[in-house]
Amino acid sequence: TGLFTYDPGFTSTASCESSITYIDGDKGELLYRGYPIEEIAEHSDFMEVCYLLLFGNLPTGEEKTKFVHDVTHHTMVHEQINMFFRGFRRDAHPMAVMCGVVGALSAFYQDSLDINDPHQRLIASYRLIAKMPTIAAMAYKYSVGQPFMYPRNDLSYAENFLYMTFAVPCEEYKPNPVLARALDRIFMLHADHEQNASTSTVRLAGSSGANPFACIAAGIASLWGPAHGGANEAVLKMLGEIGTKERIPEFLERAKDKNDPFRLMGFGHRVYKNYDPRAAVIRQTCYEVLEELGVKDEPLLALAMELEKIALEDKYFVDRKLYPNVDFYSGIILRAMGFPVSMFTALFALARTVGWIAQWAEMIEDPEQKIGRPRQLYVGEPRRAYVPLDKRG
Ligand code: CMC
Repeated sequence: TGLFTYDPGFTSTASCESSITYIDGDKGELLYRGYPIEEIAEHSDFMEVCYLLLFGNLPTGEEKTKFVHDVTHHTMVHEQINMFFRGFRRDAHPMAVMCGVVGALSAFYQDSLDINDPHQRLIASYRLIAKMPTIAAMAYKYSVGQPFMYPRNDLSYAENFLYMTFAVPCEEYKPNPVLARALDRIFMLHADHEQNASTSTVRLAGSSGANPFACIAAGIASLWGPAHGGANEAVLKMLGEIGTKERIPEFLERAKDKNDPFRLMGFGHRVYKNYDPRAAVIRQTCYEVLEELGVKDEPLLALAMELEKIALEDKYFVDRKLYPNVDFYSGIILRAMGFPVSMFTALFALARTVGWIAQWAEMIEDPEQKIGRPRQLYVGEPRRAYVPLDKRG
């Protein structure tokens, strides 16, 4: 009609002002509050990144200690949440469980949450950051029929998650520091990525003034899809399907065929038209983890590297500027650590929660922000008279 700008998929629409994350897609640059992701991944840790995203600056030593204390205070979930889990099928996908249980948190904190009160917003953020690992680990434990492990606040964020996932009450468990550091790095790399589908979903849901726990559940739903966070799971399935180096050309041809729905998973990005900087860090971490675990010649890694090499020289991928993204190598690391493929996207959700809640808070605090309400180009029937049932056909 000419009244609105038509932009399906929002390829050229800025929905908000934000000072949290900056991406230069052509350069392949990602900054959290101005700090390059490569430097953060090397020197920082996930708790510090949470502080940075929420408050805008790196914490002092004192601020960090207080922050870690304040967040870990909330790692346990209400005992009634245990019963909630029992309602799920044993083979329920962890993302289905996460959607349900995180959404259910809204019922546990409905009375104590005035979203216009900055203090209460902060407590909701702490609760979410603290409880996501507990809920994700519980989803795993439920699926394998092992007892839930209570969080241990003496451990680091990543160590505690490894503990809740892999420890059992009858055996001693010490998280491997190399694996904990690698997991912490994966969490840092996934912590925020400006207005991607799930973050935009959280903002849109939250723009009506809805309960933030319910909004995060909406973000989890959006992240689940294979075009977004579900890609890490899809990459491993794809590599398994390809199986051997000899079959790579066949799958590349399928990826190019517009009549075939198959896409090269872990490749391409709406914003990056260069190597995803997170993929470069994760590739390095992948070597470190496999070395630590003594599986240097992991066949899936060799297959992934060969696939990357061939794709990066192929005209189709070069012309379209399709490079490996963050999900291309993360699944190989997570699988080597012992996580089942179905947990991969749940780990992404766990790490992205801080980004979602920081963006949600930024939106609530923005005086310009109105309820999100896109318009449409109507292409249906024009006005017509109602036809009674006996006059139809
Ligand atoms: N394999 C084959 N062709 C592809 C791929 C791919 N993975 N990605 C894009 N293309 C082609 C696409 O067919 C199109 O070709 P043409 O111009 O001839 O029609 C061109 O490249 C542009 O693609 P698009 O679909 O317009 O790009 P988009 O910005 O809408 O999609 C994407 C971005 C990430 C959804 C897409 O690249 C994709 O589906 N990748 C595979 C899934 C994946 O790895 N997702 C994880 C993204 S990173 C983690 C996260 O933040 O969630």
